[in-house]
Amino acid sequence: MSEAAIIDGKAFAAGLRERVAKVAADFEAQAGRKAGLAVVLVGEDPASQVYVRNKNKQTVACGMNSFEHKLPAETPEADLLALVEKLNADPAVDGILVQLPLPAHMNEQKVIATINPDKDVDGFHVVNVGRLATGLPGFVPCTPLGCTMLLKDRLGSLSGLNAVVIGRSNIVGKPMAQLLLRENCTVTIAHSRTQNLPEVVRGADIVIAAVGQPEMVKQDWIKPGATVIDVGMNRLPPPEGETKGKLVGDVDFAGASKVAGSITPVPGGVGPMTIAVLLRNTIVAAHRNAG
Ligand code: GUN
Repeated sequence: MSEAAIIDGKAFAAGLRERVAKVAADFEAQAGRKAGLAVVLVGEDPASQVYVRNKNKQTVACGMNSFEHKLPAETPEADLLALVEKLNADPAVDGILVQLPLPAHMNEQKVIATINPDKDVDGFHVVNVGRLATGLPGFVPCTPLGCTMLLKDRLGSLSGLNAVVIGRSNIVGKPMAQLLLRENCTVTIAHSRTQNLPEVVRGADIVIAAVGQPEMVKQDWIKPGATVIDVGMNRLPPPEGETKGKLVGDVDFAGASKVAGSITPVPGGVGPMTIAVLLRNTIVAAHRNAG
């Protein structure tokens, strides 16, 4: 068996950002203003700070306005809700993203429910979750939509393929399953209580790993020729004498790539797609809300 083809998410995301930038320029010419994305960060979670910085940079690079709101970790929930209401009412703001996780004293569902569903570029609001589940147009969560784009680019039609999604989060696993169903896959959602997980995964033409367990999915779980999408992003403990551990996914890449037909690397696979899709959702929001 030859080595799997590498699915280059970094290159695909760069192409998507270029297309978004063109649409953003058209929007500006028509509307007489730039499309705008508001990003709200509460607290100082280091990973979230990195994400938010990258979101802002790439939003501006695509020719859109980035409105950054940083609030201290101890901000009362009512203040965050008031900010979201203000952004809902601001005509310069087309998309609103509240970075998760929020501090423990805040109710995430309540905060998300306050975002205007037509500015909910994360696709987390129950209205958008319901739209996705019923096949209505709406906003779809960025990471699973990015995975679907990579799969369709690689495989063309996904119709009739067996897809196993490992992980059932609201952000990735559940919307991923909905999107694969929409593409006419036969979908299995596996999770921590699934019995005989390796056997379940061996039946998959498409494997989506989104569990947050470093290198959990092993070579002998993969059906020969399968397409493997690794959503995981885990930092291993640093080796002796070093300060930073290696970044790995949820899939044992070295092993799985001996069997898979194609596979996303970590980093450089799914990761760069998330922000590119966020920018795509934002320019779609701008056109819908202005039109
Ligand atoms: N935290 C981790 N991923 C995401 C995401 O896609 N959106 C938001 N808002 N928070 C996140």
